[in-house]
Amino acid sequence: MLTLILRARSLAAGVIVLLLPFSGLHAADLQNGQAVYASTCAVCHGPAGAPDPNSPLVQGLGVVPADLSDPLFNSREPTGDWEMVVRYGGHAMGLAAQMPPHKEALSDEQVADVTAYVKSLVDTSAYPPGEMNLFLPTRTKKAFPEDEVVYKGRYSNESGENPLKSVLEIEKRIGKRGQGILELVHVNDASRSELTDVEVGYKHALSWSNRHILSGAVIYAAPVDSGDSDGELQTYLAYGTELSPAWILQGSLRLKFPMDKASDGAAELAGALHYVHSPWPRQVFPGLEIIAEQPYRSRNGDLEWTALPQVRIGLTRGGHVALNLGLELPLSGQSWDNRAYLTLLWDFADGGFFKGW
Ligand code: HEC
Repeated sequence: MLTLILRARSLAAGVIVLLLPFSGLHAADLQNGQAVYASTCAVCHGPAGAPDPNSPLVQGLGVVPADLSDPLFNSREPTGDWEMVVRYGGHAMGLAAQMPPHKEALSDEQVADVTAYVKSLVDTSAYPPGEMNLFLPTRTKKAFPEDEVVYKGRYSNESGENPLKSVLEIEKRIGKRGQGILELVHVNDASRSELTDVEVGYKHALSWSNRHILSGAVIYAAPVDSGDSDGELQTYLAYGTELSPAWILQGSLRLKFPMDKASDGAAELAGALHYVHSPWPRQVFPGLEIIAEQPYRSRNGDLEWTALPQVRIGLTRGGHVALNLGLELPLSGQSWDNRAYLTLLWDFADGGFFKGW
């Protein structure tokens, strides 16, 4: 009994250690941050965060320092990423080397204070925070509105057909909280290799804090060959939250309504848990998704469950190009044996595809 209690206690301690690997428990001192900014950063970034293009020093850099007072830019970059840039310099995070490292010159507290100060340079309350730009899961829908290009390949291992479905997604931030969606769907199997659908949609961030985000989206999938069907309307709610600095949880509820007969559609509930064990983006991060899909017109045994273990692999130093590899396993009587996924994503708001490898 005692060993059991001891084990439970060490397990709990282990969980706490897992949950707190690199959390900054320091409450930022903005006044100190302002002083550090004025003495260390303002020469390049300007007195209020916007660089002065006429300054000889800025001209000599050969690259224009980021405008930290631009609300869209300021809001979409997570505080943790900026602390990394300030501490280790631009090069370490895939940015220009002209942004110098400050890990020798500034203490950890000064880095936290000055970063909190630059974050406070502009009111970003109307924009969803970059902290909630969580890892893109394979099937669970993501809530944060992005500027991103994603290729997703799905190979189904099933007797005879073995179809490869490829989706190219182009996502563009619209305004303060919206995102336009364009998707091209291509299917390649034993009998065909063709573009099957073009999907257009819009996602809107409905509510957020530094720990949560909730979005809603509507997508219309139009078949390329209109003889096939009238297409499908899809709508989803997507939610993301940071359980702790190391654990992120995302979930989505998606409803599909075929235009021919809405009742032939299905509801899909998906959840994804990722372990973010390091603040360095170029790492391998494990994740697990669980997906349940239920046709509206239910027959016995129609509820399909799958598990989708996966890894996110940051490819560039800043992680703005990343790979996700996953294997989906049926947990109920599906016709396929398993499905392999490869997702390549490029967050183009953070720079060109070839930057920072
Ligand atoms: C010698 C000039 C210089 C100094 C000093 C400097 N920076 Fe920078 N900083 C830059 C340049 C140039 C960039 C743009 C890098 C790029 O976009 O590739 C930049 C980028 C940044 C970014 C944006 C990172 C991103 O996500 O794109 C932040 C935040 C930042 N600097 C904060 C600071 C802070 C805080 C200090 C003071 C502790 C500081 N910088 C000092 C030149 C400087």
